[in-house]
Amino acid sequence: MGKLFNVAVAGATGAVGNQMIACLEERDFPVKNLKLLATSKSAGRKLRFKGEEITVEELTKTSFKGVDIGIFSAGGATSKKYAHFAAKDGCVVVDNSAAWRMDPDVPLVVPEVNPHAVAKYSNKGIIANPNCSTIQMVVALAPIHREVGIKRIVVSSYQAVSGTGKKAIDELYNQTKAILNFLEPEKKVYPHRIAFNCLPHIDVFLDNGYTKEEMKMVDETRKILEDDSIGITATTVRVPVFFSHSESVNVETRQPISPDEVRALLENAPGVIVADDPSKNLYPMAIDSAGRDETFVGRIRADESVPNGINLWVVSDNIRKGAATNAVQIAEILARDYLSN
Ligand code: A2P
Repeated sequence: MGKLFNVAVAGATGAVGNQMIACLEERDFPVKNLKLLATSKSAGRKLRFKGEEITVEELTKTSFKGVDIGIFSAGGATSKKYAHFAAKDGCVVVDNSAAWRMDPDVPLVVPEVNPHAVAKYSNKGIIANPNCSTIQMVVALAPIHREVGIKRIVVSSYQAVSGTGKKAIDELYNQTKAILNFLEPEKKVYPHRIAFNCLPHIDVFLDNGYTKEEMKMVDETRKILEDDSIGITATTVRVPVFFSHSESVNVETRQPISPDEVRALLENAPGVIVADDPSKNLYPMAIDSAGRDETFVGRIRADESVPNGINLWVVSDNIRKGAATNAVQIAEILARDYLSN
């Protein structure tokens, strides 16, 4: 039998944390002992893993003693505060927040795209999991970039509320219910009503007029594809969908490539399902990708306004491939290739 690992999930009671526990179970990750961590408010709660109940503990500086791999999804501030304590105790952190993603010493990994980068975990004992909207885009674009080179990307996203966490899932549900009952909807999470609305505002606004989410897509895509020459511009939009982000992606390639060639490339790409048959009204949709780990790509067509332009519609479950599954896949590479001896 292979080696088993002591694993901790920080943020275990959150939307992503919950899914991380489910992914560890579904993928049969070699867990010896699983520690579940959250705030003191959640300490004592019980969560299920492989038929057993595990009691949630409060996350503290000493939580990671004896832990081999710590998967974090408890927000950037928590990661900034605790990842170093974990690393000091010999625990490798796979961090889902934005805290470490652009640190040049911290690898930013999508297993289908740049698994080799995991090796750099030894710099700081931290590996960053990219932003959800970036992950699905690079899964779809990496095969095209490898084949013909990508010069420029213009992306607009249609992002589910679950990306904001459990409170936002409740907010969409409660606002929708209130409006359908002719009641005044309550606003707590977003600055405006999200039910029956679209907000071109994800994360905070920056001095350049973009949101932080938009700049994450720019910076993280270049880092993962290891190519700073790609021009990227993004508009990220929150829409009243519970699970799965959709993206309209326009790319200009360096060498010509036809829509049929893109389709053939993506049909053989790891983690991608091509759903593209307009004659049958077949295209990727949030409701079909929710609960799945693959990235769905369709509406593949030439952008006839430029010489080497391709348009794609890219959909993936933001909580699974966009967060929990990707983090657990990183942990799998780490366990198999780096921590097994
Ligand atoms: P808790 O449930 O005890 O507040 P979501 O993104 O769905 O809102 O979830 C955030 C997760 O991160 C929750 O599990 C939450 O725990 C956890 N969390 C947030 N802040 C901290 C912190 N300072 N220490 C430990 N866990 C935290």
